[in-house]
Amino acid sequence: MKTMTRLAIAGFAALAIAGAGTTAAQAQAFPTKPVTMLIPFAAGGPTDVVGRLVGEHMARTLGQPVIIENAVGAAGTLAGQRLMSSAPDGHVILIGHTGTHAAAVSLNPNLKYKPLEDFAPVGLVNTNPIFLTVKKTHPSQTLTEFVTWLKANEKTATNAHAGIGSVSHTTCLLFNTVLGVKPNGVPYRGTGPAMTDLVAGQIDYLCDQAVNVAPQERAGTIRTLAVASDERAVFLPNVPTSTEGGVPGFKVAVWNAMFAPKDTPPAVVAKLNQALKAALADAGVKGKLQELGADVPVPALLEPAGLRGFIGAEIEKWAPIIKASGVRIE
Ligand code: MLT
Repeated sequence: MKTMTRLAIAGFAALAIAGAGTTAAQAQAFPTKPVTMLIPFAAGGPTDVVGRLVGEHMARTLGQPVIIENAVGAAGTLAGQRLMSSAPDGHVILIGHTGTHAAAVSLNPNLKYKPLEDFAPVGLVNTNPIFLTVKKTHPSQTLTEFVTWLKANEKTATNAHAGIGSVSHTTCLLFNTVLGVKPNGVPYRGTGPAMTDLVAGQIDYLCDQAVNVAPQERAGTIRTLAVASDERAVFLPNVPTSTEGGVPGFKVAVWNAMFAPKDTPPAVVAKLNQALKAALADAGVKGKLQELGADVPVPALLEPAGLRGFIGAEIEKWAPIIKASGVRIE
């Protein structure tokens, strides 16, 4: 009996060593095939634009193509579910954001994942100021005028967003809550298509990320009334701050971050992290992000551990905002 036990232990130990060897070898060989990058929203929107920009450079470092898949649904949370059921080998990764990996926790009691437990953070990709924009033909020329208009027209006003819990939803939810208005929300598969409809004059307003707003504002196809910040954005210096426009409570910035499935070997996460850092250090990528108004993160948030702590703080930060709004997905 004792001999059997000893044999069994020796067998398990041999298996464990062989297993560790396999994991290390797998990590070293990674990637052995194209990497799929899940984008939770429609093509052409801010998450998609940032993901493609970074993914294109990461492919060069990794030596394998990075294929973008717009896995749209459930305000971006479907892509998180996809990541959870993907093999933890680094060949499927995800760009999540303030909505999918922070605000959704308080908004959605049925959220199918726990952002801090169910994923392996790779690194923060960018931060992004939020702007309040209206259709070009809107009667309001300033934020102050828009506030007066919205209070008088909240029953008919249309507020586009990318689904309950998305960044465009939660940030305008903050704005609407500060004002005490409940306009008509119009959901889209992402702010790419929402912006198309804003440009076409089919909706009244949209709270959106710099990446989507800056090109349209420069082209003069929309009217941007405020940046939700204390300071004007250097890339759109003519747009006043929310404080200048009389709504100082509307202050918010958002972020995109990269995740791999939980249990991805640390050496694989490290390779993804190195490729992400190389992309963000590249002058071309950096320049394009800055032109679009996206900021490259501080070094600590480029590390998986730093990102994990940051997301924990963001989940806490959004909880009272969501509570005050009274909105909850049932
Ligand atoms: C997008 O890429 O369409 C946006 O990030 C969606 C959102 O507003 O959260």
